[in-house]
Amino acid sequence: MFPARSHLFFALAAVLLLPSCQVAGPSASHQGSWRKGYDLANAKYAAKPGWNQAPALPSSPSYSQTTYSSVPLSQPFIAMTFDDGPHPSNTPRLLDLLKQRNIKATFFVVGSNSKAYPQILRRITAEGHEIANHTWTHANITTLSTDALRKELRDSCDAIVKATGVTPTLFRPPYGATNASIKSLIKTEFGYPSIIWSVDPEDWKRPGVQVVADRLVAGARPGAILLAHDIHKPTIDAMPSALDRLLAKGFRFVTVSQLIALGQKSGAPTP
Ligand code: NI
Repeated sequence: MFPARSHLFFALAAVLLLPSCQVAGPSASHQGSWRKGYDLANAKYAAKPGWNQAPALPSSPSYSQTTYSSVPLSQPFIAMTFDDGPHPSNTPRLLDLLKQRNIKATFFVVGSNSKAYPQILRRITAEGHEIANHTWTHANITTLSTDALRKELRDSCDAIVKATGVTPTLFRPPYGATNASIKSLIKTEFGYPSIIWSVDPEDWKRPGVQVVADRLVAGARPGAILLAHDIHKPTIDAMPSALDRLLAKGFRFVTVSQLIALGQKSGAPTP
């Protein structure tokens, strides 16, 4: 799928960016170098008109908060997020559905799956979506030692960088389980804000395709962060209906970092 030159690019980028997964703390290497991957990704896509549906945005993310569950916005932008993948069949099918609708999403990937399916991570990045860190083993991080937490985040970041050359800038705690001191440590050492959500269709409980779609549509508000899981087939089955109805209601899809940037651009007060 990718020409040889792309492989060379990714290999070169991976070598250049590998040390950038932790920006501060005991095992940090290059202060602030996490931005390089983001800038690289934006440079690659910024010239393509219409690669997303958002207006001009800052070239680098700047996260003033340690946590975001939604972003105060008056314009109808939302961020669709997919967790726990990539999955070998469901994620490619989802990417087809997103591509058909020119919708950009954010994928909170689990490191062990990233390692198993690096070609899917490359496709996610190549199609303009955002990849973010969701730990290596999908651990409940509130039960881990600080060193084990650092390793979960670093290993997952390393797998993403190795596959795509892009350094993630966002983190989502598995199960949404976290606390103030963990969020602070992660923000300080890795630069990641913790991304929760404002709409949870509980698709992992398998309530049915129609119910998942209805809950996503009913919960959407300007600035919403919507949660779903691309490892479950019924969730992918719900997407055509959910996405088409959200588009018909006038919502425009951006990545989570874009949503945050839009919030800062609009000058809205933080909640
Ligand atoms: Ni998860």
